[in-house]
Amino acid sequence: MSTLTVRTAETEAPILDVLAERWSTRIFDRDADIDEAALASALEAARWAPTAANTQAWRVIVARRGSRSHAELVSTLAGFNSAWAGDAAALVVFIAETERDGKPMRWAEYDAGQVAAHFTVQAHANGLSTHQMGGFDAAAISAAFGLGAELTPITVMAVGELGDIRAASAELQARENAPRERRPIAESLLVND
Ligand SMILES: Cc1cc2nc3c(=O)[nH]c(=O)nc-3n(C[C@H](O)[C@H](O)[C@H](O)COP(=O)(O)O)c2cc1C
Repeated sequence: MSTLTVRTAETEAPILDVLAERWSTRIFDRDADIDEAALASALEAARWAPTAANTQAWRVIVARRGSRSHAELVSTLAGFNSAWAGDAAALVVFIAETERDGKPMRWAEYDAGQVAAHFTVQAHANGLSTHQMGGFDAAAISAAFGLGAELTPITVMAVGELGDIRAASAELQARENAPRERRPIAESLLVND
């Protein structure tokens, strides 16, 4: 069941609606299956992200709820992540190809992050919610999916429909209602000549 929760960022300058309205929910609808068309578009946006010298040194694992892969991924999640992320209709692992032909791929992790960013923007534009997680056991994912040493899991992203906050636990509700904050842009501008 989807709710109409809105947590639009208070911005210092106008930005695209989809960027202001994206946030990382922890409340997913555990009954809704993944919107396959929206997922395909998000993956397509990922595909068209820029990468260093167009090396495309990234891969993803897509695991839909109910599949063995999804259960495997849930079992690798750390701490509180394991309490909520399994409700998401899909878990997507963003993987950096950190080595190719025996040579280190200097930008692979950067590229994987940018790929994930493009994925999130398209996903939210298409009505999906996303939440990236660094709290997971990367070695366990590598073992479960037979990843070689050249492939490094960077984030696991929960993807799906927003759930009903009223049915969520008190802890989830508190986190969901916490103010969205960022430091002022002036504090990030080391030089603004
Ligand atoms: C690389 C990365 C790792 C993260 N790891 C976790 C995590 O393990 N658990 C979690 O609840 N949120 C995690 N987050 C979500 C951030 O806490 C969240 O994006 C940040 O607080 C800003 O909130 P917003 O996305 O709602 O704007 C992660 C985000 C990123 C980009």
